[in-house]
Amino acid sequence: MRDALGLPQSVLVLGGTSEIGVATAVALASRRARTVVLGVRDPSRAEAAAGAIRAAGATTVEAVPFDADDPDSHECFVEEVFARHGDIDLVVIAFGVLGDSDRSAAEGAAAGVVRTNFLGAVSATVPVVRRLRDQGHGTIVVLSSVAGERVRRSNFVYGSSKAGLDGFAQGLGDSLRGTGVDVMVVRPGFVKTKMTAGLDPAPLSTTAEDVAGAILGGLARGAHTVWVPRALRLVMSALRHLPRPLFRRLDI
Ligand SMILES: NC(=O)c1ccc[n+]([C@@H]2O[C@H](COP(=O)([O-])OP(=O)(O)OC[C@H]3O[C@@H](n4cnc5c(N)ncnc54)[C@H](OP(=O)(O)O)[C@@H]3O)[C@@H](O)[C@H]2O)c1
Repeated sequence: MRDALGLPQSVLVLGGTSEIGVATAVALASRRARTVVLGVRDPSRAEAAAGAIRAAGATTVEAVPFDADDPDSHECFVEEVFARHGDIDLVVIAFGVLGDSDRSAAEGAAAGVVRTNFLGAVSATVPVVRRLRDQGHGTIVVLSSVAGERVRRSNFVYGSSKAGLDGFAQGLGDSLRGTGVDVMVVRPGFVKTKMTAGLDPAPLSTTAEDVAGAILGGLARGAHTVWVPRALRLVMSALRHLPRPLFRRLDI
């Protein structure tokens, strides 16, 4: 169960090697989380993450195989995690791929980005919702992105996958009102992680630890949406309403 500050005792991170996911799990373990399950493509590559989460205070940390691109396995995966660990208070949907929009579209890999970021996230979230509803409580944190708020030509494949995911998560959260299950949508800007390695940091860039701190703050106040940093909410609100002919001229 969540404590008086809204923080969980048991956590499932899907995309458990994600730098943002791990930073969030570490921050939660240093507060109250005791059980952390990492859903990862290759558990043997999750040892450093598991060690950091244990060092932060979690007593049970387990890495289990999870592939967002294998929707047929998601139902079974979720059943097994809940059967093994009991109630899960918080599920973080942290996996994702950035891709290269120009190349993705040209080389036909665009569908792969959408499959992981949107289809994979929806497919994994549906059985999670069922279990959280059955237990009568729980929060799902969905790593969306400002990229989905107004899709730009420089990363339109990734942006459109996040726009779809963001819309799904918002509607899901609204549909779950009164059930005891909450959905928190997190919209970071540019975060310096392995996903963005080699790219020039955009203005207002942050770190995985900054995002983790914003997630904990959002959980504590029961937020439905978290922007990281907060100033991006205003920036994106302006960009979102910019007429298309003007938007096209921006070098973004
Ligand atoms: N970094 C940013 O600027 C930024 C900004 C806004 C939103 N976000 C979002 O925040 C989330 C976390 O990103 P991050 O920066 O922490 O990136 P990251 O460190 O690159 O983590 C992404 C993770 O996704 C996992 N993944 C990819 N495909 C998968 C699949 N098919 N099945 C299971 N796991 C898969 C990867 O696992 P492997 O170890 O197996 O490769 C990797 O650990 C993502 O959803 C991302 O889109 C990031």
